[in-house]
Amino acid sequence: MNEKLRNCIEKKTTSYTPIWFMRQAGRYLPEFREIRKKNPDFIKLCLNERLSAEISLQPIKRFDLDAVIIFSDILMIPYGLGQKIEFKKGIGPILGDLNFNVILNTKPNDFIEKLSPVYEAIKRVKKEAKDKNLIGFVGAPWTLLMYMLNKKSPKNNFDINKIIKNKSLMRDLIIKLEDIIFLHTKEQIKAGADIIQIFDSWAGLLPKNKLSEYCYIPTSKIVKNIKSLEIPVICFPKGIGENYIDFCSAVEPSCISIDYEIEPQWIKENLHGTPVQGGLDPKILLGDREEIKKNINKYLDVFKDYPYIFNLGHGVLPETKPETIEYVIQTIRNKK
Ligand code: CP3
Repeated sequence: MNEKLRNCIEKKTTSYTPIWFMRQAGRYLPEFREIRKKNPDFIKLCLNERLSAEISLQPIKRFDLDAVIIFSDILMIPYGLGQKIEFKKGIGPILGDLNFNVILNTKPNDFIEKLSPVYEAIKRVKKEAKDKNLIGFVGAPWTLLMYMLNKKSPKNNFDINKIIKNKSLMRDLIIKLEDIIFLHTKEQIKAGADIIQIFDSWAGLLPKNKLSEYCYIPTSKIVKNIKSLEIPVICFPKGIGENYIDFCSAVEPSCISIDYEIEPQWIKENLHGTPVQGGLDPKILLGDREEIKKNINKYLDVFKDYPYIFNLGHGVLPETKPETIEYVIQTIRNKK
């Protein structure tokens, strides 16, 4: 079994740099686009255990990666809680109206039943990729709440005060999400996931005085529960800048995934030994090879004697050439 990712996180090994990519299964791969073309309903595709397993395995058939991440989506949780979800080409996810009673009264067993193809896909991947770490994932409560209430990407016109105006409802929803998110990770672990990543892609929308209530506290409860199952947790609270340090003190993740706005040297100096993942701006991979190499070396040099997992500061962009991913991996493997 290749435990390189887990060893880097748990034993803090520094002699080998494990590599995987967020969105390593996705639109930059022609073999993914081929399947996607025939499956216009994205949620249905995520619930097709055979295809979902096949897509998860696509990147490791091409590349020398240390982990598989299950092909699914963070919005499978609102789906499992009864909210309608559609993915519109060029727009992204569009969610239906939120029925609080339906959500708050969803029974754990009904949720598990609805999402069972996700767990079946994980079992298939585990069988096929015995020699790799298998990463399961969830969205953090804040990012899920944001999608559930805003019902679309917050890229344009986002008003946080509108989202959080009903305090008591927010409290009920957060409690429900903490339970359901943990349930979803527990089922992924039972099916074979041996690492969990929590994506808080929109943590950066929270002002500093709301980070604790909406990000640190709910996330730390989930992290604690996952760690009690002896499974390491990688947290990715994207866009919170210097608050990464407070995040690590409050949440105590097993590993922290950084975005491209953070200076790697600064984070290394201010963390107290928490293993680090990622950082490189995915846009760099659209440029020339000299620039790519220079930027990879920046991260590898800073984290030379520090537990570090190579990844990007966000997902692989659809415009990325698969050959570039190969080049990145070779550059890291050949580094002396
Ligand atoms: O990393 C992997 O390879 C595993 C698969 C994965 C997907 N989504 C597949 C996907 C993971 C880990 C996610 C997480 C996810 N989903 C996040 C957190 C990470 C991040 O990007 O910040 C978020 C915010 C979502 C919600 C989501 N799903 C959006 C906003 C979109 C549309 C825009 C986009 O980025 O493509 C999706 C669709 C989605 N999820 C696709 C894939 C491969 C593209 C589907 C397609 O149109 O073919």
